[in-house]
Amino acid sequence: MAKLLYIEASPRKDRSSSIAVAREFIAAYTQAHPDDVVETIDLWTLDMPPFDGATINAKYKVLHGLERTADEDRAWETVAEFAGRLKKADKILISSPMWNFGIPYTLKHFIDIVVQPGLTFTVSPGGEYNGLLAGRPAVLVLARGGEYGDGTTYDYQRTYLKLILGFMGITDVREIIVEPTIAEKGTVARAKDAAMAEAKKLGAAF
Ligand SMILES: Cc1cc2nc3c(=O)[nH]c(=O)nc-3n(C[C@H](O)[C@H](O)[C@H](O)COP(=O)(O)O)c2cc1C
Repeated sequence: MAKLLYIEASPRKDRSSSIAVAREFIAAYTQAHPDDVVETIDLWTLDMPPFDGATINAKYKVLHGLERTADEDRAWETVAEFAGRLKKADKILISSPMWNFGIPYTLKHFIDIVVQPGLTFTVSPGGEYNGLLAGRPAVLVLARGGEYGDGTTYDYQRTYLKLILGFMGITDVREIIVEPTIAEKGTVARAKDAAMAEAKKLGAAF
């Protein structure tokens, strides 16, 4: 029995293209793996701690092997709980809109909390970084109003998510792109249909 962790970054719920496609993926996944567990993190209802001074001090103290204060300890425990949810997952699904060429701030907030030394990555004495979440395949469902295709300099949504997942050791990353979602009706419908079909296929095989 495996655990699929689903992280949802759009606040638009029933109006969201990324969520609609992710739901299609999950439906196909659940049908193919009826015994697996799907855990959902809705970033808009998740109570995330502020990424504040105590947390940053704790992060640097961990990096430099220094003793933490009680406040820093508390902050670190919270961060460890969040990172633990990623570590306990066998597979990861993230759905996200493109906002201002990048990701919504809630998803960035979550990333700032979980990307931590000793929890999701390590640094060797020689300064080499090593991700600790290797072996967990991931799927990104990315919705964008416009069309970006591959390799555009404006796309900091896909490139950033791939980079930060890779930093934590997650290198098997598949993508379902829903674009354009803001265009002539027929074009949008065709884009959505294609993404739904891909989600169905990938969900069954993931
Ligand atoms: C705050 C905000 C910023 C956006 N920025 C971009 C953008 O930079 N590029 C783009 O193509 N679409 C942009 N859009 C449009 C969304 O990417 C598009 O509506 C997408 O379908 C949202 O995903 P969702 O339907 O899952 O919520 C933006 C939308 C919002 C609300």
